[in-house]
Amino acid sequence: ELGEYRHFMLKEIFEQPQSVAATLENRLAGDHVLPSLLGAPDALEKLAQVEEIQIIACGTSYHAGLVGRYWIEANTDIPCHVEVASEYRYRRQPPRKNMLFVTISQSGETADTLAALEKIKENHGCMATLTICNVAESSLTRESDMSLMTMAGPEIGVASTKAFTTQLVALQLLMVLLMQAKGADKARVEQITADLRKLPALIEQALDLNPKIEVLSERFIEKHHSLFLGRGELYPVAMEGALKLKEISYIHAEAYPAGELKHGPLALVDSEMPIVTVAPSTGLLEKLKSNLEEVRSRGGELYVFADREAHIKADDSLHVLEVPHVPELLAPIVYTVPLQLLSYHVAVQKGTDVDKPRNLAKSVTVE
Ligand code: F6R
Repeated sequence: ELGEYRHFMLKEIFEQPQSVAATLENRLAGDHVLPSLLGAPDALEKLAQVEEIQIIACGTSYHAGLVGRYWIEANTDIPCHVEVASEYRYRRQPPRKNMLFVTISQSGETADTLAALEKIKENHGCMATLTICNVAESSLTRESDMSLMTMAGPEIGVASTKAFTTQLVALQLLMVLLMQAKGADKARVEQITADLRKLPALIEQALDLNPKIEVLSERFIEKHHSLFLGRGELYPVAMEGALKLKEISYIHAEAYPAGELKHGPLALVDSEMPIVTVAPSTGLLEKLKSNLEEVRSRGGELYVFADREAHIKADDSLHVLEVPHVPELLAPIVYTVPLQLLSYHVAVQKGTDVDKPRNLAKSVTVE
């Protein structure tokens, strides 16, 4: 089953062009997203009434939700909140009007996420429930009014990779459906739909960085700590990169929004501290570049995954890996790939059990 790959994680990282293509397949018409993908005949009418969104998930799926919030709030007028299920389920929820309750889960069986869904249903706290899920016959799909299936196929590696990127694709599809339901500009919808079709090829190009990342990964083996930086919708991507490194290489990794550095974490920076940064060409690139200068002047070792056109100058302590230019909305998906590869290679060189990291289970069905 592993074929040419040494681990399921690597195989699943390399399957992403296909799993993303499968998640888009039969869901895009010429210039818009097909509402039928939600499996409910009245889906568009329901979405038209939505005034607020609450996203609930755990771990990697939670990070997907955080990216989704940036996208939804940037492209619709619907306020969107995101919270981890284990917190949400145990606190009081003020009543909300016309809220769409969205769960995100690879397995569809995560105990806390299910409990949060059950609680909101019992309290009649929302107008509709939707799950973004990878398993068709799961508890979450059964218990939700609508399902948006990710088509990642079975994910064996405990560290989630292809499930995450397909969740992001699903969130883009949901965002576009919300735009359509709310009567957004047709040209904008058409542009996003066209860009989505480019995604599998862009992920292929990101995968081409693999040999370079493998070389770079050697520099992390002796490290005990690391920082991951991003801004805007790339901040949750940095969080996901840090989670991957922690869970499979056991190196402590912490993500920060780059603008927060000077509010504390800058004190950690010295020549021993590797700092990984994702720098696509977005409206925040110039701000990010000045954050990188702050780190550099303290002697930090920087590893920057940057847009070819970002013009970030490499030197002894600043390593730049060029990522193909991507449409802004797709950057979180494409920039996830090099971070997955980085943690994979660091873990392999450290000799950890990559597919079954210590203390972790693939599906967390108990609290
Ligand atoms: C990390 C990872 C976990 C899961 C989390 C939620 O790589 O896999 O953080 O994302 O346990 O699982 P699902 O998505 O099945 O609800």
